Amino acid sequence: MSELASEAVRIGTVVPVEVDGHDFVIWRGDGGTLGSAPSWCPHLDWDLGEGRVVGDELVCAGHGWSFDCAGHAFKRTELGRVDPKDDIETLRVEEADGVITATR
Ligand code: FES
Repeated sequence: MSELASEAVRIGTVVPVEVDGHDFVIWRGDGGTLGSAPSWCPHLDWDLGEGRVVGDELVCAGHGWSFDCAGHAFKRTELGRVDPKDDIETLRVEEADGVITATR
């Protein structure tokens, strides 16, 4: 389990967090929703902490795979096609009284 202050994860930011010895990132989308993913992109291990938040999704800085808050990975092509990729592990992320709690 890991805890951090809500204000540490502002809208549009990505924050690294260690949970039970495993590296993850947590981000907050435009709508305030919190998402999580393992720190290393399942495509080619790019650090997802270097990604950017677009809407409620995290987009990998490597080759543009996107991750939604439900653990789905996909690639949007230039032509608008959405290619699903494998699902990823997510954390159970809860927020109350200004504290975010993340558990595996
Ligand atoms: S390493 Fe993340 S999309 Fe390629």
